[in-house]
Amino acid sequence: MQFPSAIVSPMVAPLRLAVVGLGRMGRVHALHADELSRETGLCELVAVSTLDRGQAEAFLSQASTKIPVFSSIQDLADARICDAVVIATNTSLHEEHATLMLKAGAKVFLEKPLSGTLNGDRSFSGYLQAHHPDDIMLGFQRRFDEPLRFAKEMLDGGAIGRLFRVYSALEDSAPAPNGYNSTGILPDMAIHNVDEVLWLTGSLPASGFVLGSNLHSHRLTTCREDFDDAMLILDFGNEDGKGLLAEIQVSRNHVSGYRGETILYGEKGQIRVGRFNANPREVIVEAFGPRDHAELLVSRSFLTRDYHEALPEFIDRFGAAYKEELRVFINACLARQGFPVTHLDALRAQEIIAAAMTRVLSTKDMAPIAYSKA
Ligand SMILES: NC(=O)c1ccc[n+]([C@@H]2O[C@H](COP(=O)([O-])OP(=O)(O)OC[C@H]3O[C@@H](n4cnc5c(N)ncnc54)[C@H](O)[C@@H]3O)[C@@H](O)[C@H]2O)c1
Repeated sequence: MQFPSAIVSPMVAPLRLAVVGLGRMGRVHALHADELSRETGLCELVAVSTLDRGQAEAFLSQASTKIPVFSSIQDLADARICDAVVIATNTSLHEEHATLMLKAGAKVFLEKPLSGTLNGDRSFSGYLQAHHPDDIMLGFQRRFDEPLRFAKEMLDGGAIGRLFRVYSALEDSAPAPNGYNSTGILPDMAIHNVDEVLWLTGSLPASGFVLGSNLHSHRLTTCREDFDDAMLILDFGNEDGKGLLAEIQVSRNHVSGYRGETILYGEKGQIRVGRFNANPREVIVEAFGPRDHAELLVSRSFLTRDYHEALPEFIDRFGAAYKEELRVFINACLARQGFPVTHLDALRAQEIIAAAMTRVLSTKDMAPIAYSKA
């Protein structure tokens, strides 16, 4: 199942694409760009940019063509050799790098988040809305993930009736690496879940709060983050008394391996998406009816891509979705059509997280429990 894409005239292809940043995320975008150029002819990877010579050499040794490596993004912009660019540099550099390439006339695919802070996102998004409202796509790959898209199709088709609760979990098996710059576990990780929940429900929450804890992995890294485990509760309840609650769980402590699960609770059944079998390469989507018709309505298995090399665990789970979002970006650039995910989606998710972060509970805020003496 592919994301519906614009009809592209072969007259305008190929799109000249560059990738900036070749770290955990950028390298995989560059690999996909190289593959898409060979598989579709719709793009051509014309350059990469990184500060790390070793990363560049490792990528070039695998790439199908020899391309220039820019250690300065300014030089890449001045060279005017690309129509579009993927930016996967550190979050603190997103605004500077995206702005530079937009001013040079390139369409931009920007990894999430916009800036990582509410004020930063508001100001960057304000600039984009004023000067480049249609020139930037944001990297929320869950919207392009086949298992999640299949679940959404069933939900939208009424398979489980009215939705009243969404559980969305994203749990890493280890802390963010040494040197990684995070503005907090929620803006860094839960931004994916918040966007997913808004996309699945088609609604905006009215209120929220956070329960944050430091339980384990914060001791194992020099990356300073507010929490290593957090739960974000969002209330979408409406005035006619029909409730809808989202529970978002993010963690850096799921030591047995990356965990991503989504469970949709409806009045007539449930849909769940996750790796429920022992096979880490298999994502399962299951839908169940109500207890009196408890049979499994649907069970479908999706095998994730094996890249035959050690890659970050989020690539193991979402590899195909990252490639699909890039394909959609390329097609939209060529067809001169709007992007399906923009800075406004990123801003919205950040606003929700920032508002909920004004109510952070910790274990200290919990009610003490008094036990009877036996
Ligand atoms: N969508 C996802 O699931 C996902 C997953 C991980 C990271 N990310 C996002 O991707 C971005 C990058 O994260 P990462 O983990 O890949 O970081 P990383 O530290 O592994 O890589 C950063 C890259 O940026 C390059 N870089 C830094 N300054 C540069 C400059 N001035 N010019 C050219 N290159 C420069 C570095 O050389 C490196 O290649 C972050 O914004 C992060 O939030 C998204």
